[in-house]
Amino acid sequence: MIQVNGGSSMAVSRLSLPQLAPRAGAPAADRAHAPDCSECPPPAPDHVRAARRMIDSHGRVIRDLRLSITDRCNFRCVYCMDPGVRFMERERLLTTPEIIRVARVAASLGVRKIRLTGGEPTLHPELTEIIGGIRAATDVEIAMITNASRLSRAALREWKQAGLERVTISIDSLRPERFARLTRSTCTPGDVLDGVSMCLDEGLTPLKLNAVLIRGFNDDEAPMLAELARRFGIEMRFIEYMPLDSGRAWDPSKWVAAAETRRAIGARHELVACGDDEASSTARTYRFADLPRDASARIGFIAPVSSPFCGACSRLRLTADGKVRPCLFSTREWDLRALLRGPSTSDDAIAGFLIDATWTKQAGHGIATPEFEQPARSMSAIGG
Ligand code: 5AD
Ligand code: SF4
Repeated sequence: MIQVNGGSSMAVSRLSLPQLAPRAGAPAADRAHAPDCSECPPPAPDHVRAARRMIDSHGRVIRDLRLSITDRCNFRCVYCMDPGVRFMERERLLTTPEIIRVARVAASLGVRKIRLTGGEPTLHPELTEIIGGIRAATDVEIAMITNASRLSRAALREWKQAGLERVTISIDSLRPERFARLTRSTCTPGDVLDGVSMCLDEGLTPLKLNAVLIRGFNDDEAPMLAELARRFGIEMRFIEYMPLDSGRAWDPSKWVAAAETRRAIGARHELVACGDDEASSTARTYRFADLPRDASARIGFIAPVSSPFCGACSRLRLTADGKVRPCLFSTREWDLRALLRGPSTSDDAIAGFLIDATWTKQAGHGIATPEFEQPARSMSAIGG
């Protein structure tokens, strides 16, 4: 049985969402839908709207925006996408100007960092324009998460020149045959590692690597994957497998707790907690005891299942089809695309929508509690 901390806040989340009824007298002029539209968030209290910041009803402030720019992917990772996945029609996806506009408005509301995600963002034919547009319109940090299967030096240079600052790369196995079964792609671990070297050479740093461990599939590789941190002088992060796979194959027996992974790595190299993680950071980081204190090789553990970090969450997500998801595990999402495509929608209306949507952010996810409801969308459709 999985132990999940913060059970009490889960109760808050269950009560707070449906009970946020529209408030009488809230400004209606800047809303494209009818006041009772089920796809629009109910208005946040007036003082929250007036603050021009994205603040939720639990007191958390949004600083990080995860922008999914495409739901397409050339991998079909077992923990994410079912082989039979159907992608959305192109007209449903936000256009480049729409993506840039949301980024600009979000930055005006206090967002400091934008991470481009997918699907696989490098499949987007206008990635350079998206990066460049966000760079021109904001001063946020621009990062991207990729499977690194399609990186080239020329492309990395172009994206960097456009404004991309850092990259996170997924690598879940170093064994070619297993990597192929896990990603259901023709890419090899060697291809990904070439991508890692290229990103480092091009200065897309600090670079991080992500691995998801699945019991009985690749969990025996934790120590080998951890060696990548030492080999490249980077942070290697282990993410607990979450119930966000479109095949709905997640079950508690396949999940590996961060503490177990840490012990497996620790048997080879002593790890010491860095103790300098930002409260809103998803990862708890460790350094290697035998390396200098300031060495860049680190191990990070992202433990949404065993130690939810929802209390300090600073993230908001926008799906490729323009739905605002206040939480990775939201079972409700708000349709910003309709507003973006409405007649003469002002930036102010978009800002109001983002503020209202943020106000509905749930307290936490409650994975593995009996009431937990898996969101209809997989990670690829939500955007990591
Ligand atoms: N559980 C944990 N992590 C996941 N990711 C995708 N699906 C899952 C899941 N079910 C990770 C990817 C990538 C990041 C965006 O999210 O490995 O690193
Ligand atoms: Fe934030 Fe939701 Fe993730 Fe918790 S589950 S950390 S609230 S996005």
